[in-house]
Amino acid sequence: MIYPWCKLMKKSVDGLNLVIPKNVYDPAEDSFLLAENVVVHSNQKVLEVGSGSGYVSLYLAKKFPSAEYFCLDVNFAAAISTHQNAIRNRLNLMVYSSNLFTATKHQNNFKQFFDIILFNSPYLPLSDNGMLEKAWSGGRDGLEVIVPFIENLSMVLKSTGLVYLVVSSKTNHSKLVELFNTNNFLYKFLDKVSEGKEDIILYQLSIKS
Ligand SMILES: C[S@@+](CC[C@H](N)C(=O)[O-])C[C@H]1O[C@@H](n2cnc3c(N)ncnc32)[C@H](O)[C@@H]1O
Repeated sequence: MIYPWCKLMKKSVDGLNLVIPKNVYDPAEDSFLLAENVVVHSNQKVLEVGSGSGYVSLYLAKKFPSAEYFCLDVNFAAAISTHQNAIRNRLNLMVYSSNLFTATKHQNNFKQFFDIILFNSPYLPLSDNGMLEKAWSGGRDGLEVIVPFIENLSMVLKSTGLVYLVVSSKTNHSKLVELFNTNNFLYKFLDKVSEGKEDIILYQLSIKS
């Protein structure tokens, strides 16, 4: 048991044994869309922002073992959950409890360090309060967390690095595209899944040369 005061859910997904506390995001279609579309090469350094249960990074660490994986989450219970699930599945991840890149700022060696950065972001235009709600609640336009994420990316991303960002058709797309452009990112549509009237969309970003 991770926390005696909150309920836990045990599940097996893609051969991974996960234990997920009630206050941590349960992997869903957006998580699977991200995990299935990322390709990691040998020795690459991969950072997952908002790792939740750790499912995406653990899936990748199992599929592409000769890379280094780092995870962070603003929800402390999620960071603990990622760490515990890594141990449970005998996979190696370095985990931080951090609001976006705050934890990496204190470590000079993370400057333009990552080859790949992943974020299944809180993309919905909602302002729900609470730690679990931070998983989907993107505030005004669904961009409240995505804006500082994009604005600070070049601090930790290699100039040749790639970013995989999950958003929704409900996220404000004209503002999103403007954000990519003003921060010097090229963006490419990679894949999507439909959830009723909503599309969950995966973009790949790279720094314009
Ligand atoms: C949609 S969930 C995705 C969880 C997991 N990556 C997955 O795909 O199953 C978004 C995650 O981002 C985290 N998050 C939200 N805002 C954040 C921030 N400012 N810094 C770090 N993590 C954040 C949430 O706590 C949540 O775990």
